[in-house]
Amino acid sequence: MKTIILGIESSCDETSASICIDGKVINNIIATQSIHEEYGGVVPELASRAHQKNIILVVESALKRAKIKFSDLSAIAVTQGPGLLGALMVGYSYAKSLAFALDIPFINVNHMKSHILAHFIETPAPIFPFLCLTVSGGHTQIVRVDSAIEMIILGSTIDDAVGEAFDKGAKLLGFPYPGGPQIDKYATSGNPNKFRFSESQIKDLNFSFSGIKTSLLYFLRDNLNHNPHFIQENIVDICASYQKHLISMLMKKLVLAAERTSIKEIAIAGGVAANKELRTQLKRLSQKHQWNSYIPKFEYCTDNAGMVAISGHIYFQNKSFGNLTDTPQPRMSFKNEK
Ligand code: KG4
Ligand code: ZN
Repeated sequence: MKTIILGIESSCDETSASICIDGKVINNIIATQSIHEEYGGVVPELASRAHQKNIILVVESALKRAKIKFSDLSAIAVTQGPGLLGALMVGYSYAKSLAFALDIPFINVNHMKSHILAHFIETPAPIFPFLCLTVSGGHTQIVRVDSAIEMIILGSTIDDAVGEAFDKGAKLLGFPYPGGPQIDKYATSGNPNKFRFSESQIKDLNFSFSGIKTSLLYFLRDNLNHNPHFIQENIVDICASYQKHLISMLMKKLVLAAERTSIKEIAIAGGVAANKELRTQLKRLSQKHQWNSYIPKFEYCTDNAGMVAISGHIYFQNKSFGNLTDTPQPRMSFKNEK
């Protein structure tokens, strides 16, 4: 009998559903919420409402395109956290109710772990143990992945996530939310060495991104005082320089983690892993340090249910099922290195 998993993701501003059959992700339907653009960031209440509107449509579309009926499903996997509580509740309540009605198991998925498990959607997958730099709008982590189940956080940000540094920097430059992809785009034609920003020096494998964001703020304020058109006249160079510093902060810690653990299987995951410069720098460092590097396809970097469905498939094999009394966990984490 086939193992057919429906994956559901609603942790932030993407409503997504995906079908995975016997470990193969068949589709990955994503409804992106453009409503947040005009507010300069995700408005939790609006995100919940949009998820309510979209959830049935994306699930029906995933089933229809895979030619699957509800009664064919083996289990339903859903993001339990971390994320926005109201947003999580929509996908989570829907998944639990559906599993209850169909009398099939439902599977809890940690959002940050599922970003990493996206690497098992396609081959070749990294070989255990591997390191994953997980970079998103809410998190920045270096994780040692000992197995699909056992993962240990070796370092994380002590303040802003790198995605936040991209988005807040982009907002200062006048880009709509989410600004990360805009900085990426404009940086392509800019000079990354034209401007300097202060990189914070944090111990061990941890990160801090609030200082560089403030450094950009003062840099823009001082220059705008002299020239009101400073941003327009220098936009590509500012984007390239700011991005270069953010990526360099990530890469320094990744090199340190690889040295300390002697692990040469290196992966990146999460929304910021879609960044072209990050992908290029990872390839460059892989050559230099003889790493085997793994970069997800763009559609599996930013939030998507494909990564939830593949996680569900793995947990299904391990008979790791949720309980109908379980609840969403907005601050859900997992093991930190002692
Ligand atoms: O993983 P994700 O979709 O959602 C969270 O779990 O937070 O990550 C979203 C983040 C946003 O901060 C967005 O600006 C950033 O990923 N992002 C990028 C790029 N694409 C998405 N940042 C830089 N360059 C990109 N190309
Ligand atoms: Zn995410």
